[in-house]
Amino acid sequence: MNAVPKTPVPKQLSAVDAPDWVRHERLKAWVAEVAALAQPDRIEWCDGSQEEYDRLCELMVQAGTLRRLNPAKRPNSYLAWSDPSDVARVEDRTFICSERKEDAGPTNNWVDPAEMRSTLNGLFAGSMRGRTMYVIPFSMGPLGSPIAQIGVELSDSPYVVANMRIMTRMGRKVYDVLGADGVFVPCVHTVGKPLAQGEADVIWPCNDTKYIVHYPETREIWSFGSGYGGNALLGKKCLALRIASKMGRDQGWLAEHMLILGVTSPEGKKMHVGAAFPSACGKTNFAMLIPSLPGWKVTTIGDDIAWIKPGPDGKLRAINPEAGYFGVAPGTNEKTNFNCMATLRENVIFTNVALTDDGDIWWEGMSEAPAHCIDWQGKDWTPEIGKTTGRKAAHPNARFTVAADQNPAIDAEWDNPAGVTIDAFVFGGRRSTTVPLVTEARNWVEGVYMAATMGSETTAAATGKQGVVRRDPFAMLPFCGYNMSDYFSHWLQLGAKLEAAGVRLPAIFCVNWFRTDENGKFVWPGFGENMRVLKWMLERIDGKAQGVDHIFGVTPSYEDLSWEGLNFTREQFDRITAIDTQAWKEELRLHDELFDLLKQGLPNELVEVKQRLSKRLQG
Ligand code: OXD
Ligand code: MN
Repeated sequence: MNAVPKTPVPKQLSAVDAPDWVRHERLKAWVAEVAALAQPDRIEWCDGSQEEYDRLCELMVQAGTLRRLNPAKRPNSYLAWSDPSDVARVEDRTFICSERKEDAGPTNNWVDPAEMRSTLNGLFAGSMRGRTMYVIPFSMGPLGSPIAQIGVELSDSPYVVANMRIMTRMGRKVYDVLGADGVFVPCVHTVGKPLAQGEADVIWPCNDTKYIVHYPETREIWSFGSGYGGNALLGKKCLALRIASKMGRDQGWLAEHMLILGVTSPEGKKMHVGAAFPSACGKTNFAMLIPSLPGWKVTTIGDDIAWIKPGPDGKLRAINPEAGYFGVAPGTNEKTNFNCMATLRENVIFTNVALTDDGDIWWEGMSEAPAHCIDWQGKDWTPEIGKTTGRKAAHPNARFTVAADQNPAIDAEWDNPAGVTIDAFVFGGRRSTTVPLVTEARNWVEGVYMAATMGSETTAAATGKQGVVRRDPFAMLPFCGYNMSDYFSHWLQLGAKLEAAGVRLPAIFCVNWFRTDENGKFVWPGFGENMRVLKWMLERIDGKAQGVDHIFGVTPSYEDLSWEGLNFTREQFDRITAIDTQAWKEELRLHDELFDLLKQGLPNELVEVKQRLSKRLQG
């Protein structure tokens, strides 16, 4: 790791020197309390201005954390390379510290909150020495919206400040909403690398010890030791999913790991879909898809998180609490996601992609490989080196951070505080076998069962082994801030309550774009062709499309999808839709394993669905 000289700092501010636009005494007292513990050299109250963003980026350029990209190629954009030990979310270091262990449930790491507080007090003591502590006020959701939540993150990382400004509505205007005594979620973050007097900094400070901690009852977040993504940008997974899912359960709404898209038919009819996929399974691509079918249009409301509440008419309405995209770069290109590449033309922070010789960026799958570049670890890389060493130019979890309003396919309603009405929920995992292209659940309870038992092959978005199937209920396994069985009950109860009130519930579908042939190649072309599946779903909702009833739902036959403009044979279609009874017997056994793990509090309705499916499978 290169040592870099310490950079000069601008004006000194402290907790007591809070600017006059901060009128919240409790907030100021909390800032002073954390400062007394972590002992930063100085405190800076972020205002969210462009000037502040530019200044901090310049500071990071001087420190070597960021590299300014060639402005002729990628205006106002930067590249960061993280420490190789800090490249993804650390699920095994993520904790839900509820008062009672059973409230965190068996799928979460739990430590008694008193014990965790004492551990963290030890770790945070003096942890920001030699650094600036930034006070970052942010709103998840449109400012002032009744659905939005406010958070304040204290962090000693300027990289976090810059990313939070893109990913959230961040800055001074948040204090106008907070006023003198508004509610906020306190979020404390340190990279965990204090600097001794005169000690030179490293370009990506972090600590081998990592803790990503949530106290769901008191709604607090503490993060130690990582500067990367969801570990450090605490508005995203920590607040908008783990803490918000608990809030949603307490208050009757849902916080979900879902993209939200609008889809408009050639006749001008518009519907909205919320779709949950595990990390790095194509949510951003699906949210920005350019339909292969003429006359159809897809627009993006969100690419990762949805907050969903019953509106005044009882129908479920969703907002995207974020203001930017922190998407996976590898595999993204003009063909797979044209809109995304257009979004990334300027004003982007790239993390862990490769640097080309002309000062631009590159990642695997972006275009033909350059003859030479510098890889994400700062080493020379050529296609030959890649071939002989297996080393990737970009880390598989390399990311871009970019403002949502740069997306040419942004939905006109994306910032609407009232959200959009959801017509369908889609759940999808990455499965090379077993799960068919698309299945509609026969009813809400069977849909909840489908989502609850979803499996997916693991990806580089989290540390750990890749490519192994794990159950990832609702794509929320790493993000549910409370007991997963209670989460299932919450979905069932919300559905039952709305149905009883005469509300038509969204239809629920399960998809799998990822079945492979005997050579391991994907059979389904995916991307813009997913419009064919989307069209069938919407026509099902309208009562226009046919389907075939099978063991666990309704699937289209070959004739039920539109094939105009695509050469996809009946044989290929059979390969990605066939139900292999033997494989499904094994699949149901794995459902049993999940239900066994979650047996405490598991809703009976789901056990009954399981029994019905098993019976059907036995014939
Ligand atoms: C993400 C993730 O960063 O799911 O969105 O890992
Ligand atoms: Mn995600």
